[in-house]
Amino acid sequence: MTKVTAAITAVAGYVPEYILNNQELEKLVPTTSEWIETRTGIKERRILKGEGLGTSDMCVKAVELLLKKRGISALDIDLIIVGTVTPDYVFPSTSNVLCDKIGATNAWGFDLNAACSGFVYALSTGAQFIETGKHKKVIVVGADKMSAILDYTDRSTCIIFGDGAGAVLLEPNTEGLGVQDSILKSDGSGRQYLHQKAGGSVKPPTHETVDAREHFVYQDGQPVFKRAVVGMADVSAQIMDRNNLKSDDIAWLVPHQANKRIIDATAERMGLSSEKVMLNIQKYGNTTAGTIPLCLWDYEKQMKKGDNIIISTFGAGFTWGSVYLKWAYNTDNE
Ligand code: UT7
Repeated sequence: MTKVTAAITAVAGYVPEYILNNQELEKLVPTTSEWIETRTGIKERRILKGEGLGTSDMCVKAVELLLKKRGISALDIDLIIVGTVTPDYVFPSTSNVLCDKIGATNAWGFDLNAACSGFVYALSTGAQFIETGKHKKVIVVGADKMSAILDYTDRSTCIIFGDGAGAVLLEPNTEGLGVQDSILKSDGSGRQYLHQKAGGSVKPPTHETVDAREHFVYQDGQPVFKRAVVGMADVSAQIMDRNNLKSDDIAWLVPHQANKRIIDATAERMGLSSEKVMLNIQKYGNTTAGTIPLCLWDYEKQMKKGDNIIISTFGAGFTWGSVYLKWAYNTDNE
């Protein structure tokens, strides 16, 4: 029997219109554009403005574009997995809301919380449903409205993150294209360095938690940085090794966009020159689960059928991992 693999057959994204640049942040917190750009690589990020708009609204835009590009209807979709840490509600899931908003009435879905690794975990999970033959069309979304949980008086976090959503469609492939391998990692002992202190079941919201600004992202940047450099580089080298891939065999590295210095260290360890590294941190910042599909969206036209692609990520938890895939299509000049 021919082996079925899960191939990405379309990619789309959405970023909000409002641009928050480094100069504007200089007016909010004691920082400089130069510090932000040299320490992180970020020049600007997008912010979702508007009463009542949440993560699902960005997902809707990304998924509607995805369906249009592939020329299919929301009714054709079997499953939607949304990687996010900023769901519209604690419950129901953002996937549940998204399916309703786009009319995907034949689909089921769930949210997957793995912080910045949300898309990679979700991609690997979604691929299983294709590989087993259970489903024919699975959408994997990575989306976060980080501005909803950022403290714009904390210069160590508000300068890093932005809002955005990216989505891919997975379909069965019998040419050996699509997801080839994945390595997923988790070490919850790192949670002390990057988390949201209140709002969960350990510390439900109270007036005191709000006054203490505990509903925002808390990050101790340096330990996260050190673990991210090692974790992302190790897992990328490991997936290359076990698939007998040399640096010349790899067409693209798609790294999580948290800090350009982490990305550079990963590429160096893999022996890749900067032309092979997808980078959009300068314009979107760190969109958490959104970074990787937004990179694929930005670079779609440059990828060729059969290209070997390594996706790598590191995030809160800690969670980290890598996916090796073979790109499944060429994009005509649209
Ligand atoms: O995506 C999920 C995983 N997250 C990450 O991978 C993020 C990993 N961490 C980082 O990217 C970096 O740690 C940061 C960008 C968050 C911070 O950069 P850093 O080089 O690690 O800075 P630091 O925290 O060690 O701080 C160095 C100095 C400190 O001042 P002193 O104590 O040396 O006087 C900070 O107070 O820089 C100061 N600082 C700033 N200065 C100007 C911190 N934030 C700022 C700022 N503007 N925005």
